[in-house]
Amino acid sequence: MEVLMEARTALITGASQGLGLAIARQLARDGWSLVIDARRADRLKAATDELTTLTTSANRIEAIVGDITDDTHRSAMAEAARSFGNVQLVINNASTLGASPLPELTALAAQPLQRLFDVNVVAPVALVAQLHNDLASGATIVNISSDAAIGSYETWGGYGASKAALDHISRTLAAENPQWRVLSVDPGDLRTEMHADAFPGEDISDRPTPDTVIPAFMRVLDSQAGSGRYQLSDITETWSPSTEEAA
Ligand SMILES: NC(=O)c1ccc[n+]([C@@H]2O[C@H](COP(=O)([O-])OP(=O)(O)OC[C@H]3O[C@@H](n4cnc5c(N)ncnc54)[C@H](OP(=O)(O)O)[C@@H]3O)[C@@H](O)[C@H]2O)c1
Repeated sequence: MEVLMEARTALITGASQGLGLAIARQLARDGWSLVIDARRADRLKAATDELTTLTTSANRIEAIVGDITDDTHRSAMAEAARSFGNVQLVINNASTLGASPLPELTALAAQPLQRLFDVNVVAPVALVAQLHNDLASGATIVNISSDAAIGSYETWGGYGASKAALDHISRTLAAENPQWRVLSVDPGDLRTEMHADAFPGEDISDRPTPDTVIPAFMRVLDSQAGSGRYQLSDITETWSPSTEEAA
């Protein structure tokens, strides 16, 4: 008798487009059940319709429209993941850049700065907290970071500070939960809506599309790499975790 393996479940925030959708496509093809979200219902539906064509009878897609800063929405995401079972992966990808064009810090009002931290820091922590009893030993949490977490670029201070805070959260989550892998992943510049908003009026067609970084992303995810920060531009075809990086 054929024994059906229960599909692994991944929760990916902000998977209607850009990097989140590119990751979702790969995981759907690899047999993961997915819980995804975004605020714009039409884009989320289009993404879900496409992702559903990549699944088999063994894995499913559940899409929930909402804002990741909304506690009720996060609870619905967590509940959907729980109902699928075998939750092995949480990818905190949804993020805001703040105002476009990006303002210097002296022009960044308190409310938009607060919103940057609500979306990019508070929501990821709250989502993991809501799921922590469902995440088995060996589960992976991926927090999508940015080079702006490390570099101090003019006008990128608010967004960069929120991503630096998220990197700190990743390190502390890893220290507190050695049973999980907590990966902070810097994808590099990508041709997406967020990147276009960062450079209004500029031609960003020379930036790589999100699908081009998926092989590197999957190499890290599927490797023995332990908790830590990974820059996808460093992940070559022959990459394997160094002794310090290995779990
Ligand atoms: N693109 C780059 O060059 C670059 C570089 C470094 C790091 N990153 C990081 O990569 C990640 C993905 O960015 P991207 O470039 O792929 O952006 P994107 O194309 O603009 O996609 C962002 C996704 O997140 C969703 N989203 C945004 N705010 C949300 C909220 N409050 N609640 C729920 N969903 C929300 C968006 O849908 P809705 O708007 O409909 O909600 C969309 O699905 C982000 O963490 C970003 O900081 C990007």
